Amino acid sequence: MTSNTLDSTVTALLAAGKGILAADESFPTIGKRFAALGIPSTEENRLAYRELLFTTPKLNEYISGVILFDETLRQQSSKGTRIPDLLAAQGIVPGIKVDKGTVAYANFPGEKITEGMDGLRERLIEYRKLGARFTKWRAVIAIGKTIPSNSCIEENADTLGLFAAVSQEAGLVPIVEPEVLMDGNHSLARCEEVTCTTLGCVFGALLEHQVALEHMLLKTGMVLSGAKCLDQASVSAVAEATLRCLRRAVPVAVPGIVFLSGGQSDVAATERLKAICSVGASPWKLSFSFGRALQDAAMKTWLGAPANVAAAQTALQHRAACNSLAIQGAHPAGSAIVSSVKPQVDTPPAKRRVEPAKKNQIDARST
Ligand code: 13P
Repeated sequence: MTSNTLDSTVTALLAAGKGILAADESFPTIGKRFAALGIPSTEENRLAYRELLFTTPKLNEYISGVILFDETLRQQSSKGTRIPDLLAAQGIVPGIKVDKGTVAYANFPGEKITEGMDGLRERLIEYRKLGARFTKWRAVIAIGKTIPSNSCIEENADTLGLFAAVSQEAGLVPIVEPEVLMDGNHSLARCEEVTCTTLGCVFGALLEHQVALEHMLLKTGMVLSGAKCLDQASVSAVAEATLRCLRRAVPVAVPGIVFLSGGQSDVAATERLKAICSVGASPWKLSFSFGRALQDAAMKTWLGAPANVAAAQTALQHRAACNSLAIQGAHPAGSAIVSSVKPQVDTPPAKRRVEPAKKNQIDARST
């Protein structure tokens, strides 16, 4: 029974041409993103924003599942529909972030562990009743001169293993997310090494916790040069390193790997996703589970104003369509994949105006 339930959730999440929208920003994270645009982070604004996202026309053509935050799973739309029901009615699977964020890892400066295990079993039972069908837990691994430590990787891997086991027990498909951060000036090779070691350790822990690999998804970052590395790897080098790393570390029993965007620009994330998915047959389904790379343009277009809702939805639809094409490896024959990525510099982000995207127009650089 549980196995059938988990099977059908996995199949729905990995539907052809679709990916996952991560809209599970915690209070501090959505607060920061709204504040940068001058939008007050009130319960009303958070609901209005999420309702805007989830009522975007044709969203279900590109999006198979949405990861929600606890508050959103319990909210009702302006028309009185519960948010998980609003999604399910469109054939979009509702999911829930169940970790409670990261804290400093004692004795290991610069490293973090993720909290949220206390009372998790009971929360999962409630989340399932509220309509969630999958869960997500994010661990973060930072790269620096002397980090990550084995201790930090092992601690996070073990917690991910336990989270996944408890989720499956509750009939919820776990999305296991060990995110290797792109902050820093490290090389592509260093990111590949750390990502490979981390994934190896995570899959060891998943086996230790007797997690059914067939009934989970891996959410990982692409292998990238550090954001401040002066020598930014080309899109094709990123795709090669990412696939090499995944082939070495991820068992073929895992049905799907969904990429996070991790602070890349939305266009860069789509370009790289497309390159990874264009290489050819892979043992897993490859797709996206983007937060910022799907939402950035929509949030900057909305700015908290009801008059901007339609334009913001057009922006989200555009990004979702681009990423849907990317995972199908779709690009016209002969188009070159070139890097448009520059190292990040320490200047405050400019408040750019985002022009609403034209319907069905795909990024020039991603086609
Ligand atoms: P980003 O794509 O913005 O990295 O968010 C994905 C996510 O779910 C982070 O946990």
